[in-house]
Amino acid sequence: MRVLFIGDIVGSVGRKALKACLPRLTAKYNPTIVIANGENAAAGRGITAAIAKEMFELGVHGITMGNHTWDQKEIFDFIDGEERMVRPANFPNGTPGRGYTTIKVKDKELLLINLQGRTFLPPLDCPFEKVDGILAAQKKKHKFTLVDFHAEATSEKLAMGWHLDGRVSAVVGTHTHVQTHDERILPSGTAYVTDVGMVGPQNGILGMEKRAVLQKFQTQLPVRFVVDEGKWHFHAVSIDLDPDTGLGTKIQLIRMEEDQLLFE
Ligand SMILES: [Fe+2]
Ligand SMILES: [Fe+2]
Repeated sequence: MRVLFIGDIVGSVGRKALKACLPRLTAKYNPTIVIANGENAAAGRGITAAIAKEMFELGVHGITMGNHTWDQKEIFDFIDGEERMVRPANFPNGTPGRGYTTIKVKDKELLLINLQGRTFLPPLDCPFEKVDGILAAQKKKHKFTLVDFHAEATSEKLAMGWHLDGRVSAVVGTHTHVQTHDERILPSGTAYVTDVGMVGPQNGILGMEKRAVLQKFQTQLPVRFVVDEGKWHFHAVSIDLDPDTGLGTKIQLIRMEEDQLLFE
């Protein structure tokens, strides 16, 4: 069982990168299930039905979201009916959509859970308590469970890794758009990385056009950010899971840049 998890896909440049990379990655890694974070897929803000469809057609089996979930108003028209998409489970009760789902590919099933951190992000229900509740309700029905913890602070993400070590197959972080080099299998068997990174413009700031971001830092005035143009970079992780225990056996970082496609 191998899961390919792709970091936050940012705008049309990110979608172009997904189209260029996914067929080659599939050929090289032969993942059983492909999951991608789509919270920035529509011009950096949220996702539309058409973009979700495009991602599914390219070979993504499940989409996770984050703090940008509601940025495109049309999401309210389709999120309840889209079982392959999750938004953070610790959003307030009654929020549209779902916080966890089962992704089925051929004879394999993956319980996919999305959570959002509370450090430097809006206040939400406790993600630790929420995930415990979900796992208790699932009663170990699923052998394979992946948690996308969408959070800002490295400490909060590591805390979630340790909280879930041995209880889920993998905890991967998203949201910072910067890939961390701390991928490992935790002592009780959970595959972990603090942040998977992003898929999108390589020369902006986290995917956004850099002049506007600089201006914001320098002037503290309101500035509208737009997704940068130009060449892309692509960050993901490949995670191998033991078919008997469901726990991680190997986690490998994937980093690619446009024009440096190293697919041997
Ligand atoms: Fe993001
Ligand atoms: Fe985010």
